Amino acid sequence: MSGTGTATGITLHAAAPGWSLDADVVVVGSGVAGLTVALRCAAAGERVTVVTKARLDDGSTRWAQGGIAAALGEGDTPEQHQADTLVAGAGLCDEEAVRILVTEGPDAVRRLIATGAQFDTAPGTGEILLTREGGHHRRRIAHAGGDATGAEISRALIDAVRAAGVPHAEGQGRIEFIENALVLDLLTDAAGRTAGVTLHVMGEGQRDGVGAVRAKAVVLATGGMGQVFSATTNPAVSTGDGVALALRAGAEVSDLEFVQFHPTVLFLGPDAEGQQPLVSEAVRGEGAYLVDANGVRFMQDQHELAELAPRDIVAKGIMRRMREQGTEHMYLDGRHFGAEKWENRFPTILAACRSNGVDPVTETIPVAPAAHYASGGVRTDLRGRTTVPGLYACGEVACTGVHGANRLASNSLLEGLVFAERIAGDITAHAEAAPGEPVIPDPSRLPLLSYETRYEIQRIMTRGAGVLRSADSLTQAATDLERIHDHAAEELERDGKTAEPCVETWEASNLSLVARVLVAAALRREETRGCHWREDRPDRDDAAWRRHLVVRLTPERTLAVHTTETEQF
Ligand code: SIN
Repeated sequence: MSGTGTATGITLHAAAPGWSLDADVVVVGSGVAGLTVALRCAAAGERVTVVTKARLDDGSTRWAQGGIAAALGEGDTPEQHQADTLVAGAGLCDEEAVRILVTEGPDAVRRLIATGAQFDTAPGTGEILLTREGGHHRRRIAHAGGDATGAEISRALIDAVRAAGVPHAEGQGRIEFIENALVLDLLTDAAGRTAGVTLHVMGEGQRDGVGAVRAKAVVLATGGMGQVFSATTNPAVSTGDGVALALRAGAEVSDLEFVQFHPTVLFLGPDAEGQQPLVSEAVRGEGAYLVDANGVRFMQDQHELAELAPRDIVAKGIMRRMREQGTEHMYLDGRHFGAEKWENRFPTILAACRSNGVDPVTETIPVAPAAHYASGGVRTDLRGRTTVPGLYACGEVACTGVHGANRLASNSLLEGLVFAERIAGDITAHAEAAPGEPVIPDPSRLPLLSYETRYEIQRIMTRGAGVLRSADSLTQAATDLERIHDHAAEELERDGKTAEPCVETWEASNLSLVARVLVAAALRREETRGCHWREDRPDRDDAAWRRHLVVRLTPERTLAVHTTETEQF
């Protein structure tokens, strides 16, 4: 392997690959999106390699509590689901993407059930039980294990891929896994087509250290970037690796300013950092309500759906009341559920609260907003294709256009399923010629940041680009982020020195890149819309801003920001 590298020519500092293997498709990530692509591609005869950063079940999917939204209930229709999704998206959804989501969703859920996922059903009738969440005008959320929906979906898909991992009869594909592996960069051939990935495998064995998987298609299903903030519901692995890789590969990303802050995350103190316990919106869907420091409900006069208003409205309502009262959190009251309902319907949340010293059966739960979901990501068309040939994105890492400025609750597992099937359909429908020999870029480009900068970046982002933003706070965040980046870049330029390449420094560098893009977009969007709340621009401005902010990295290592109308490409 030799040659010129990715479209931008920018890669992470890493050793040259010391080993390689061949596949047809590389799937990066093992949540609902990644495993569904893998299963469908393997069933069509493709050789699939799934690369995952930790263990197969360590991604965001398994933490999903509330459930998966689909028009499965009596009287519900895809059109009603579409209407709720568009309202939550605050004018920036791609209507065709949403139509696909809601019309293809119910059958995709049935296929997931056929794959082995067991949803909660009514005793006697066996009908799927449906609950409500914010922004839904109907009971539409299927759940499993009470509040352990993601864990059940993850279990079912992992069982299925493990079964498919055994080499199949002739003509069938197979799935191979590489766990504990951080994907570094995209490989392209001399014509700029996707040719695989470079990756670093932790541990010892035949394939440890930096290697390469050659393939005609790469599917990014790496999840989110919640770790860019100090407190988040996302696991530690959610460091924006997929978005950063796509940027370095020359792909466009869009809507990164729309970070959804979940309104009800268990409050563990003002300095709590890292992954925080979620208190699902389904708890409010079943009748729990928010109260302030005086025990007074405050959402009823803010929206017709009160506590079940779209998530951005509830998060803002909480923040406003916290400010008025000078408190650090509000409370969720579900004491009226009684012990039996808590134990049967919300066992995970009950256990998390109790292990943190709060008993929801007898006490109100202290809650505050925390970073939860990236509504934007790598820009794709309706088949999950990015702007780089052969590179796909699916799930939270992608921006398909279904979420607009604010994702509707429980639409994300559905998006992962529906668009995974579309991606697999696209890959298997086209007998692409094998890419040419991958070209390995010259070493250098972006400086690596030290491990400690991860925490510095998180603090900068929490201070400047959190639930409440302003031109001042964002400008300060941009300045602080550039200072960290420039310092490392200057050192590299001057002394040829950069931080030691390892998982921690690659992650810190990825976080730095996505943070800089997020802040650049948030600064540029001079309005308040969906989950982007600018205190200095409190109104939605459709005339100027019913547009997407699209960002790409230039070969000169600067960020090019441009706007498009609401349609995807
Ligand atoms: C929740 O259970 O509240 C989270 C569900 C989601 O983010 O879609």
